[in-house]
Parts: sequence; structure tokens; C-alpha cells
Amino acid sequence: MSARITVATTAFADQKPGTSGLRKKVRVFQQPNYLENFVQSIFDATSGLPHSGTDKTLVVGGDGRYYNNEALQTIIKMAIANGFTRIIAGQNGLLSTPAASCLIRKFQAFGGIILSASHNPGGPDADFGIKFNGANGGPATEDLTAAIYQQSLDIEQYHQHDCADIDLERIGSQQLQACVVEVVDPVTDYAHLMEQLFDFQRIREMLTSGSFRMHFDAMNAITGPYARSILEQSLGAPPGSVLRGIPMTDFGGGHPDPNLAHAVDLQQRLTGSEAADFGAASDGDGDRNMILGANFYVTPSDSLAILAANATLVPGYRAGLAGVARSMPTSQAVDRVAASLDIPCFETPTGWKFFGNLLDAGKITLCGEESFGTGSDHVREKDGLWAVLFWLNIIAVRGESVAEIVQQHWLRYGRDYYTRHDYEAVESAAAQSLVDSLRQRLASMSGRVFGNYEVELADDFAYTDPVDGSRSKQQGVRILMRGGARIVYRLSGTGTEGATLRVYIEDHQTDPAKQGADPQIALAELIALASEIAAIEKHTGRSLPDVVT
Ligand code: G1P
Ligand code: ZN
Repeated sequence: MSARITVATTAFADQKPGTSGLRKKVRVFQQPNYLENFVQSIFDATSGLPHSGTDKTLVVGGDGRYYNNEALQTIIKMAIANGFTRIIAGQNGLLSTPAASCLIRKFQAFGGIILSASHNPGGPDADFGIKFNGANGGPATEDLTAAIYQQSLDIEQYHQHDCADIDLERIGSQQLQACVVEVVDPVTDYAHLMEQLFDFQRIREMLTSGSFRMHFDAMNAITGPYARSILEQSLGAPPGSVLRGIPMTDFGGGHPDPNLAHAVDLQQRLTGSEAADFGAASDGDGDRNMILGANFYVTPSDSLAILAANATLVPGYRAGLAGVARSMPTSQAVDRVAASLDIPCFETPTGWKFFGNLLDAGKITLCGEESFGTGSDHVREKDGLWAVLFWLNIIAVRGESVAEIVQQHWLRYGRDYYTRHDYEAVESAAAQSLVDSLRQRLASMSGRVFGNYEVELADDFAYTDPVDGSRSKQQGVRILMRGGARIVYRLSGTGTEGATLRVYIEDHQTDPAKQGADPQIALAELIALASEIAAIEKHTGRSLPDVVT
């Protein structure tokens, strides 16, 4: 026998979603009722939203990190008790974030619950996360996350269907009371969407020619099965092209963050005289990407600009782009492409949720963030493997190396030298006082000259959504120099320990003779200025950043 039970609970004060859902240590989520409270708050905050069709459908899955499957059982049982009539779950609880977005759209679901802490480490002492995506397949808007948080402060009870654990291993349907739980292959629908967007035949010819070598580092995270199926089985990349392709609950003890610091083996295979032609990596939940060529690193900001400039070479984008968008701290490289294509370019706050309205309204086709995120209107999340296939399609058509494609881009548009410096696990109050002090000095900064730079405008970035008019303030302190150089400061909204200060630095270089430098050297004066203006050492006690990308 099974039944709907209602459990009395008390609120937790710390369930405010950040840049991308609620992220906490696993042990925080393991407290009695902690997960249940947040899930019930999602259901309560969304209960008034409409759903299409006769079923109220929820898509569920996660990146397979520690606690994924326990949490999924709880969520499914709660969804049944909260009136969902159809639940689509990835087999073995697995779904990459972009695949979850794809399924929400395909099945016209009410929404989805995705379990992931993205690129943060996994394991009993590491991180876990949960987020709600709406019917468009995209992350909940700011209004909705605020409503979820409010519910979490007021919650007094939650509902759960009382039954044995659901079998998530076997593909097929199970009827539980008034609800059908369908366990689906996590890869199939996503792979099908990719086939519609890209010229698989052309990519296959290149990958099977014997003269093009590539590696994809799945970092022991969710993209392993996707990459093996699409790159190796469908497109013919030799077995072994996918590195670290088995998802693990602790990502093999590594940090599933696709950057040079965490993809050392991949980087080695792309370095030296024997270097492979193409390298890429994705993160814990499959939405980020890093792109490498032989002895060449592509910044995510450049990658977005290059995809935009070459989009019509790819079948899914042959008709051209309606517009593009980038998060504010992302470099201005894509702005230059938009200007030359004569299409709009939107500047949004950090976080994928801000692209949703623009994509839904058809105002943009491509968008991206400097934090290794690129995507388009095919889903409502950034998409790591999609970016990899986009690059492979462009390379197959142009027949040029990654370095040649990027360098030609710089010749035409200039190079946007770019770097991000992160100061991690800073004491929260110290980080806040640094930002407060910057805010107080903004008005007096305009017109000031620092070495070779003159401040044109200094402000705290605010954004009005052009579709729904909603306003988001205090999204990062910007110091804009004459000539286009910029320094941006903001505090991370995804960390689980203390504060992380992110400092973004960029400058534009149009002289071809000066486009080949190391960004840390080309930007040295601005980097020093960024520390000085914000008095980083005085506030944080740190003289150097922990991570430089
Ligand atoms: C970080 C990135 C941001 C991205 C988010 C989720 O957020 O900076 O661009 O959207 O992760 O992947 P942050 O920690 O800076 O708030
Ligand atoms: Zn991610």
C-alpha cells in the first residue's frame, strides 16, 4: 500500500538560491527535511503557474554526483504527492543540464528539477545543488527564485508519496497512483537535437579522415556518455578520443571545471610538436565548454564571438542570427561581430537565467558568458557539447586550424585581451567591504587618469529586461576606460564557502603586430590598476589571485 503523507517541518533561513539554484555542502542537504523543504517550496511557489496539455509533467535528473540518487527518490515521491501526473527521469538519475532543458521543451513539461553543483567538486564532503527550470527549459527567473526563497522561509509542511524506491535503472514506464514515471535514456533526445543542428556527415568525414586528431575531456562527469555516443559512435572519432568518460559520484576526486588548471592531461595532449588538432572539455553537469587548438587556447569570450561570426556555416544557423547577448563581464569581442552583422547585442547580468526572456522573445539566437558558457535558442541552458560540435562544424567547413580561425578573427575585429582573476574563500565581510568601498567612490572616479588609462564611466551595473521590464541592480562594479578597456568587480553567487571576488580585465588591441602576447603581460598595467583601485590586498590580505583564467 502507498499513500500521500504530509510531514510537519520548520523553515531553514539559508535557502536563498544564488546565481544558479541552491548550492550547499552535501552535509547541509543531508540534514533532516532540508531537501524536502526546498523542493516543497519550489512546488508551492510554482503551483499557480499554468501547464500545457492534460499532464502536469516534471523532468528530473542530475549530474550523478554524490547524493544525486537519494535526492532524486525524494523529489519524485514529493512530485507525485504534489499533483504531477507525469515524471520523466533520466536513466540512473542522470541528465546533463542541457539535456534536461531539451527534454522539458520536447515533452512540453511544466518544468524540471536539475540536481547539480556544476563545476564544484562532488563527494560526501563536497558540494550539491538543486535548481528549478521552467516550461521554456530555462533556469527560474529572479522573481521565481525570490518566491521560492520566500516559501522556504514560511514553510510548515511538505507532502510526500509514501512508497518503495522507484526503479531508475530500467528504461520504461511505471504507474504510481495517478502518476506515470518514465525512465528515459539520457542521451537519445539530446543527440537527435544535435544531429538537426550540425552537419554530422561533414564532421564525420573530418574525424574519420585520419588526419585530424581530437580529444574531449569529460572530467569523469556527466558528458562521458553523451560524448562517447555522439563523438565516438555517431561521428566516428576513434575510441579513446573521449578522456575520463565514466561519470563518477566524486568525479574521480577531481574538480570538474573545464579550464587549464583542471584539464592537465588534455592540455598536454594539445601541446608540443605532437599536439592533437582539437581539444575540448566540459564540466560536472555538461553546460560549460573549453576549446583548445594545437598549442592554442581559445578564451570563452572569443569563442562566442567566433561562433557568431561563422554561424551561417552551420546548418542550424544558416538563416543568420536575430541577435546576440553576453553577460556583462564577458569581453566585448561579440559586440564587434554584432556591429558588423548589424544585429542587436544585449549585455545582461551574470547568470544564464537572464538570457531566457531574450531567447523566448526571439531577440537573440546565440549568447554566452566568459565563464566557459556558450549556447543558443536550441535549449535554454548553456551547452558544452553543442559548442564543441559548433567548433568542429566550422573547422570541417573552413578546413583551417583553430589558431588560424582565431587569428584571422583578430585581424578583422581586433583582439580583446581578457583575463579573470579570482580570489577564493575570502572572508565574506572583507569581500563585502571591498565592494562597498568601490561603490562609494564610483561617482568620483569618472575622468580620473591612471597611467595610460582614463576613466570614462564607473558604475554599478543594472539591467532592465527588455522583455518583461524587470530590473536587476548591483550586478557588478564596472570601470570603463576611454578606448574600451574595462575592469569589472563582482562577488560570486555560486560558492559554498566564504566569498569569491572575481576581477575581470580586458583591453582591445587592433595592431596585428601586438596581437600575439600572453594576456597577463598585455594586460599587466590594467591588472595592477585593478588591485590598486579596489585595494584588494588591504581588504582581503591577498596579494595574488587563487585562479587566473
Ligand atoms: C558562475 C559564473 C557565471 C555562471 C554561473 C553558473 O557564477 O561566473 O557566469 O552563469 O557560475 O555556471 P558566479 O560564481 O560568478 O556567480
Ligand atoms: Zn555547469
